[in-house]
Amino acid sequence: MQVKLASSYGFCFGVKRAIKIAESYENSATMGPLIHNQNEIDRLKNNFNVGLYNNLEEVKKDDTVIIRTHGIPKDDLKNLKKNKAAKVINATCPFVTTPQQIVKKMSKENYSILIFGDSTHPEVKGVKSYGEDQEDVHVVMSVKDLNNIKFKHDKIATVAQTTKKKEVYLEIVNALILKNKEVRVFNTICDATFENQDAARDLSKEVDVMIVIGGKNSSNTKQLQAICLENCPDSYLIENSKELNSNWFKNKKICGITAGASTPDWIIQEVVNQVEKI
Ligand code: F3S
Repeated sequence: MQVKLASSYGFCFGVKRAIKIAESYENSATMGPLIHNQNEIDRLKNNFNVGLYNNLEEVKKDDTVIIRTHGIPKDDLKNLKKNKAAKVINATCPFVTTPQQIVKKMSKENYSILIFGDSTHPEVKGVKSYGEDQEDVHVVMSVKDLNNIKFKHDKIATVAQTTKKKEVYLEIVNALILKNKEVRVFNTICDATFENQDAARDLSKEVDVMIVIGGKNSSNTKQLQAICLENCPDSYLIENSKELNSNWFKNKKICGITAGASTPDWIIQEVVNQVEKI
């Protein structure tokens, strides 16, 4: 099987940075999964004894706690520092810190806040927590969700989850402008995701089968697969080489490979080697 790699794939700046930070704090633990990739989390555990806390209760006094790339809610951060006296190492991606700070500033200036994103995603939960008035911080997934929202102010400030599609954000912004006096739009969508997405789109047009490598709970990996499926119906999402299925490659000549922003190079290399052998 001939393999073609996307021109841009894998780890983004924020993830590389977080891993470097974690590697330099042996015997620490992260608050929530550092990144959305179980294999890399296991590697950090095995090689650097970086553990994982799923909630604040598990943190012991004076522990060293690393804040994950997606950030955590403001009150959790406060709690860690004050009540747990933890040594807090912040590995939140700077592109996630930006919308947190915008929400904080704009809500202090009496803007109603609209977040375009998935309300259950840790990044969005974290960003939302920075609003002064939680009842006036609203999260929408699409333009339709706007119908259910009552803003307290006629000034709206809006940010987006870093991995969201700009086209959908524009639809939401357009709808907001039609109904509100003032709309401050902050483009907090991260370009790293789009470099990988554009490259995946291009590659999926010229191959017979596409393999997308990444965490199944990673929103940017799932989005990569959705983009590939638009051009290549045989696009599969796997977490590692063990999940490859030789039936996918029957009567196919060229296999494109891309990987989500949290996928380490060693996993990608294993998949490439395996596919080349098919
Ligand atoms: Fe940060 Fe963008 Fe990566 S927000 S974690 S650099 S995808």
